[in-house]
Amino acid sequence: MIKTRFTELVGIEHPIVQGGMQWVGRAELVAAVANAGALGLITALTQPTPEDLTKEIARCRDLTDKPFGVNLTILPAIKPPPYAEYRQAIIEAGIKIVETAGNKPQEHVTEFKKHGIKIIHKCTSVRHALSAERMGVDAISIDGFECAGHPGEDDTPGLILIPAAADKVKIPLIASGGFGDGRGLVAALALGAEGINMGTRFMCTKESPIHQLVKERIVANDERETELIFRTMRNTSRVAKNAISTKVVAMEKEGAKFEDVRELVAGARGKMVYATGDADEGIWSAGQVQGLIHDIPTCAELVSRIMRDAEAIMQSRFEGMLSGAQRQAAE
Ligand SMILES: Cc1cc2nc3c(=O)[nH]c(=O)nc-3n(C[C@H](O)[C@H](O)[C@H](O)COP(=O)(O)O)c2cc1C
Repeated sequence: MIKTRFTELVGIEHPIVQGGMQWVGRAELVAAVANAGALGLITALTQPTPEDLTKEIARCRDLTDKPFGVNLTILPAIKPPPYAEYRQAIIEAGIKIVETAGNKPQEHVTEFKKHGIKIIHKCTSVRHALSAERMGVDAISIDGFECAGHPGEDDTPGLILIPAAADKVKIPLIASGGFGDGRGLVAALALGAEGINMGTRFMCTKESPIHQLVKERIVANDERETELIFRTMRNTSRVAKNAISTKVVAMEKEGAKFEDVRELVAGARGKMVYATGDADEGIWSAGQVQGLIHDIPTCAELVSRIMRDAEAIMQSRFEGMLSGAQRQAAE
């Protein structure tokens, strides 16, 4: 059992979070994560309307009586979704934990706080973490350059970003990006975090609502199988390497603008990947941690394995090294 300020804050057993995932963060996965004693997050914008989100939250409550939360991702868009309505649906459903991600969360933070909701803000730099802390969020999830999705433009890997954030942030800090096993959890704790957030690893579990062939592709992929698209537009996204993402990167090198790649990167095509299992049909997010993923366990198996391995490292490996060193010093 590893207890941290974060597990206390959100009332969960293990310091592990399943981050928001477009098209993946649905009730069956979130409930399985919650039942495993970790924190699952429904992805609000995966639901076509705020009413659908209300139904998805109810569906999740039918599957678990453990705490779970909702992710609200605020991204720049020409025609933004009705954020205030999604926010209201979250509040009215009685959700008590929210993960915010993306730009300028202040308006949402203020409203969520009025209703006693605990907010984990996910960001990719120390300066944004400090600004979210000043806004009044309750915890920070710091996403290193390894992560799936949006790693930001600073390219700071977790090994630097996590301790740099831990040195400055006072509220509980969750390490995100590149985590998939017990070794990662121990490393995150050593670097000053109070838990880990995982996307790609949870995407590759039995309960994850995506096609089996995509899960098998993640298992087959190694740590090199990602691409960084939208670099030239300063809106970098780490996605699985496939025919489409490789083409988009090549087109960007030739000077392509968003309009030129719009059809290739369409969200509807990415969604089809998960439905059909054709991993080359569109763009889908996955991180470098693919290199550490070798199986498709249930969420319960995954969480208990991470905890068992982390505890073994802390108890046997570290203590063995320490007592070995003490023995040598005494000799
Ligand atoms: C398929 C997929 C979809 C994602 N969609 C979102 C999203 O909609 N909002 C968000 O805040 N993060 C999103 N993420 C990022 C994750 O929440 C998490 O921060 C990231 O996956 C951590 O890196 P890892 O994949 O190395 O564990 C997504 C990740 C994946 C794998």
